Amino acid sequence: MKLPQMFPVFVLAGLIALSIAGPINLELSSEWELFKTAYNKIYANEEELLRRIIWERNLKHVQQHNIEADRGVHTFWLGMNEYADMTPEEFVRAMNGYRVNATKTFQCGKFMAPSHVELSDLPTTIDWRTEGYVTGVKNQGQCGSCWAFSTTGSLEGQHFKKNGKLVSLSEQNLVDCSQKEGNDGCQGGLMDQAFEYIIHNKGIDTEESYPYRAKNGACKFKKANIGATEVSCMDIEHGNETDLQLAVATVGPISVGIDASHVSFQLYKTGVYTESACSSVNLDHGVLVVGYGTESCQNYWLVKNSWGTSWGMQGYIMMAKDYNNMCGIATQASFPTV
Ligand SMILES: *[C@@H]1O[C@H](CO)[C@@H](O)[C@H](O)[C@H]1NC(C)=O
Ligand SMILES: *[C@@H]1O[C@H](CO)[C@@H](O)[C@H](O)[C@H]1NC(C)=O
Repeated sequence: MKLPQMFPVFVLAGLIALSIAGPINLELSSEWELFKTAYNKIYANEEELLRRIIWERNLKHVQQHNIEADRGVHTFWLGMNEYADMTPEEFVRAMNGYRVNATKTFQCGKFMAPSHVELSDLPTTIDWRTEGYVTGVKNQGQCGSCWAFSTTGSLEGQHFKKNGKLVSLSEQNLVDCSQKEGNDGCQGGLMDQAFEYIIHNKGIDTEESYPYRAKNGACKFKKANIGATEVSCMDIEHGNETDLQLAVATVGPISVGIDASHVSFQLYKTGVYTESACSSVNLDHGVLVVGYGTESCQNYWLVKNSWGTSWGMQGYIMMAKDYNNMCGIATQASFPTV
């Protein structure tokens, strides 16, 4: 989303917050200054008060949630990350660019687990980061390009698996160049359509040669700077977490769409994430499953996000697994083949 468009949204949200939250709490002023310094926040004069009110409201919510989590009411904790000065509505608009496009014509193939592999044969814990499949956490900025980060994540993994070299790939290449496949840059897109682009385009440039700018631009793809190619792509059976586990265990990191539209997700800090308000069909965010495991008797998917390292567990989240397809994590899962 472009910044000028954000202003009216934020003013509206700020006024709503003002009317319910009342004046600011002066005792929090030094903490507010620390927050601004930590995340390099620079506001125009008239913006600061509204940001402060939103931040205080989020702080109250985080404190209340964490008191409950300490008592065992929740399996996860919240934290005041760099997005703690945004309302949930504003945040979703700015960041969650996964678009379910009903008219999409391109179809990936269907993933079939190797016939000799049984669920009981699989390791109980997998973390592809420790095997060198995963690049560092990236930051999409205020642009709905999550789908591009999810795409590069799974292709970086498959490229490493085949060639033994971890190459960071260009999200900006996908943002600028995959309109024909149905993607819409910072206004949203789908991983499968990005896979389609990379197949047709016979490659994607490296991150280094085509750096991320967090805004739409003209396509500057250069064949000489290709970092990876792709033969085809595969979809996991819709909503089947067993199939997703087989894919994560036998293939590597897998691209998934999720419902990330809740304040619990915006301010997630640590623990196994569950959200009773989560939908398993209204997906709005593209992320990357890089493993799974169990913590305190609760199975989880280990998920790489693209919101920098201040969010979650150094940029990662543990999302409830085998929990009735929580937040739709297995609804539209896919990966490229190389
Ligand atoms: C879906 O993708 C097609 C191109 O494949 C595009 O023409 C159409 O506008 C898209 N629809 C939505 C709702 O984004
Ligand atoms: C889910 O996938 C597994 C493994 O491919 C399969 O055995 C099972 O029948 C599927 N479950 C459903 C409900 O389709």
